Amino acid sequence: MNITIIGAGNVGYHLSQRLVEVGHRIQQIFSRKTDKVIRISKIIKAEPIDNLSSVKKGADLYILAVKDDAIGSVAEKIRKKIPGNSWVVHTSGSTPSTVLEPYFENYGVFYPLQTFSMNRMAEFTDIPFLVDANKELMKERLYSLAETISPKVYRIDDEARAKIHVSAVFVNNFTNHLYAIAEDMLRSEELPIEVISPLIQETAKKIRFHSPQTVQTGPAVRGDEATIQRHLEYLEKFPKYKEVYELLTGSIGGMYGS
Ligand SMILES: NC(=O)c1ccc[n+]([C@@H]2O[C@H](COP(=O)([O-])OP(=O)(O)OC[C@H]3O[C@@H](n4cnc5c(N)ncnc54)[C@H](OP(=O)(O)O)[C@@H]3O)[C@@H](O)[C@H]2O)c1
Repeated sequence: MNITIIGAGNVGYHLSQRLVEVGHRIQQIFSRKTDKVIRISKIIKAEPIDNLSSVKKGADLYILAVKDDAIGSVAEKIRKKIPGNSWVVHTSGSTPSTVLEPYFENYGVFYPLQTFSMNRMAEFTDIPFLVDANKELMKERLYSLAETISPKVYRIDDEARAKIHVSAVFVNNFTNHLYAIAEDMLRSEELPIEVISPLIQETAKKIRFHSPQTVQTGPAVRGDEATIQRHLEYLEKFPKYKEVYELLTGSIGGMYGS
């Protein structure tokens, strides 16, 4: 396929390289930052553009990998440059595909359910792709496109994807934030951060084979009140983290009835 990618952030950077790797052509790639877009364009042999008015017609697909809040305004701007029957998708988990409806007749979503960072390699063979479109033919083509870059492709509509995205926030964004809290507390106590690393690894490994509910451990599930009290006393010096501790302890207690 001949694809234009709008956005050269975490997703645009990795997705464009994967598409080229499996044989697709990137017609143009956009970032507002000239240096950044030139750098990535050299890797993927695409035309770099730093202005949306330079978007050209003729791509089989336009992928908008821009921040959620900018999808509508970017679609509006590129509509001035490309025909209304162009195929346009975004890569957002929580944004409905219909945000593109006012501008394009053929629209959809091409959502990779993984966490991407510029400084970390993306392992696409392990990334589920959730695709959807407003027309059956486009849905089929997006499904086939996703299959060229990942073995895990799902047809998921806006409503279901929004629900999945909430779960994704819990398992990734929130757990990562909890790691950041732990790191901050250990650092401020001048204690070695690496002591908790094997625990993080094992927590993630364990749930490959067990339901998380069956392997929950800790004072909240055991109902060890004295331990919880000691933790809360210690957390007086980190009031924001104490609030999080209390909330999660209450949630665990509520789920297991301890
Ligand atoms: N990161 C993830 O783990 C992840 C995973 C799955 C899906 N997604 C989704 O993928 C999309 C992109 O996320 P990301 O993490 O790649 O974001 P990002 O790293 O912040 O990159 C966003 C890109 O959007 C561009 N952009 C932001 N505001 C813009 C505006 N007003 N006009 C034009 N371009 C604008 C930025 O341009 P500049 O380069 O000029 O700054 C940048 O290239 C989002 O919809 C997100 O929900 C993200």
